Amino acid sequence: MAEAISTRQSVRRYDGRPVDEALVLSLLEATLLAPSPHNTQPWRFVVIREAATKERLACRMGEKLRHDLKKDKLTDDEIEGIITRSYQRITAAPVVIVICLVREGMRQYPDRRRNQAELLMFTHSVGAAVQNLLLAAEARGLCACWMAAPVYCSPVVARALKLPPGVIPHAIVTLGYGVKDVAARRPRRLLSDLTLHR
Ligand SMILES: Cc1cc2nc3c(=O)[nH]c(=O)nc-3n(C[C@H](O)[C@H](O)[C@H](O)COP(=O)(O)O)c2cc1C
Repeated sequence: MAEAISTRQSVRRYDGRPVDEALVLSLLEATLLAPSPHNTQPWRFVVIREAATKERLACRMGEKLRHDLKKDKLTDDEIEGIITRSYQRITAAPVVIVICLVREGMRQYPDRRRNQAELLMFTHSVGAAVQNLLLAAEARGLCACWMAAPVYCSPVVARALKLPPGVIPHAIVTLGYGVKDVAARRPRRLLSDLTLHR
């Protein structure tokens, strides 16, 4: 797994090889080991393989994205380019995993500040679960990419997938086999830039 930390990179295009169901399950199992507040494990998954479901999800998210992007200073061509790329990323991935947050086990406080902190902690742990998933995928020879889009339109994603109330989509991980372009690895900052000495 230590090797997976150093070799993982986001891969956004996949070849057509199918991904074994047991393999996907093993990735989800890796998330069970992620840390979470009060050990609540507040993440849930939807694993999507069916083309029609990917299509529905990508189209609904695309509509919302268009609505949002129209408020930015972008040309129509730029907007359609972004939407097409997002659509292709979702529909062309052999497996799409939607990671959701639930509030089960969340502590309730009498003040807003601590309730917000509690929600933030739950959100952190969804990120830890996603990272476990990505590293497990890397360790098993799969390629993956984290897509943030659901945080901008979680009700749209929830409706498209007919999720039960209280299941809030936070991320998409696309998954498949592919070829990593090592030369295209995103550069990293120096550790010394990120360390605050006081
Ligand atoms: C919270 C989060 C959201 C992200 N959302 C997207 C996204 O929407 N689209 C995308 O292509 N990559 C997305 N990424 C991947 C980042 O762009 C990528 O991790 C970063 O550029 C570093 O590259 P690497 O993963 O190859 O090391 C996201 C990563 C994180 C952690």
